[in-house]
Amino acid sequence: MSVIYPLTGKKILLGISGGIAAYKCAELTRRLKDQGADVRIVMTSAAKEFITPLTMQAVSGHAIADDLLDPRAKSGMGHIELAKWADLVLLAPATANLIARLRAGLADELLTTLCLATPSPIAVSPAMNMEMYQAAATQENISVLAQRGMLIWGPGKGPQACGDIGPGRMLETSELVSNVVDFFNIQQSLFANVNITITAGPTQEALDPVRYISNYSSGKMGFALAEVAQKMGANVSLISGPVPLQTPAHVNRINVKSALEMHQASLAKLAYCDIFIGCAAVADYRPEAVAPQKMKKQQGIDNFTLKLVKNPDIIAHVAMDINRPFCVGFAAETEDVAGYARDKLKRKNLDLIAANNVAIVGQGFNSEQNALTVFSASDIFDISLADKKTVAYQLLEIIYQQYNLLDTCPQNNGSSQ
Ligand code: PMT
Repeated sequence: MSVIYPLTGKKILLGISGGIAAYKCAELTRRLKDQGADVRIVMTSAAKEFITPLTMQAVSGHAIADDLLDPRAKSGMGHIELAKWADLVLLAPATANLIARLRAGLADELLTTLCLATPSPIAVSPAMNMEMYQAAATQENISVLAQRGMLIWGPGKGPQACGDIGPGRMLETSELVSNVVDFFNIQQSLFANVNITITAGPTQEALDPVRYISNYSSGKMGFALAEVAQKMGANVSLISGPVPLQTPAHVNRINVKSALEMHQASLAKLAYCDIFIGCAAVADYRPEAVAPQKMKKQQGIDNFTLKLVKNPDIIAHVAMDINRPFCVGFAAETEDVAGYARDKLKRKNLDLIAANNVAIVGQGFNSEQNALTVFSASDIFDISLADKKTVAYQLLEIIYQQYNLLDTCPQNNGSSQ
């Protein structure tokens, strides 16, 4: 079983300067490594007053670089090698002093020298007292760094170590990790020129003008897929059941209510679809008839039988089409997850199926996290429990790999519009 993490193979140079937020860098390093990154640490001498090099060495698994003129560097990684090694230089926390020295282009210690020498993108995460952040000099310095193409991540607002409340907090660890993942997604543009249609959320099957049958799908998994796929360069159409979620930027959202409407909207997208992902929890059945007026409680009748008829199987129809796109289904199961998922993969003619065990509390329906086991006809991939955006990224990486193994991708056959 293969496991792919969003930052697998990515090399991140974490530059720590001397601010109180430096204490968060041990956690930040661990979370980046959890996502598959190789992290190396450079510390200024002031940073070492806030967190020990030993701690950072232990969490990163590498010796700390802190000296421009380190004689050991020759046998290990000198500053030029380190500058070339990184895929991304992340300066967190970046103090007002570090930002000023970057703006001036100083090479007065290892970290600023590396920033001058690196050909890689640099992300700056400012962290300082709010007055220092708002000072004209700092504001000007930051805008110059941004004009030079550095990424400015933060700061956040809130209570500060000094007791002030305002802008100047280093972004939370989860936000920085998410920014790093997004950065590589955008850079990679794996799905450039690829049209992806995603269904999301529940369907509502009307009984009468005020009632419907539905399920607990929140749409979060499908919307996370849409957001990440767009960031990976795809043209994304999101066919969404009724959910109050904000549409991800640059995603074309088509709102539907019932399975029949979702079916119609999905078929309408077929001609412009390279990859179809069925993440919606579609009602298998709908009431046979929709009462034109609100149904009334019948005096003396304690039992009520509702006649249901089968809804079309949307993804199966898409996957049977003569011009079928690459098809990825989901399977929401409460038992024998692998058995039912494999059955659906075959029966619905899918290329991949992402199975979630929705009997486990805290994942699947209406939760912030999910875990998936992804089946193809010959492989199994495991995506462990994480926030839905991280899961979405990992699933899309698997889809990308599998899609490219086939001849259906536009780069291979020029079939895309
Ligand atoms: O929306 P969230 O709260 O974030 O929760 C996410 C989720 C649990 C809904 C999602 O991860 C998920 O599992 N979605 C599929 C749910 C489902 O309906 O599974 P299923 O096993 O019943 O359906 C199998 C596949 O067939 C799915 O791809 C489904 O979209 C598709 N289907 C099902 C019935 C139907 N009539 N038409 C379909 O296209």
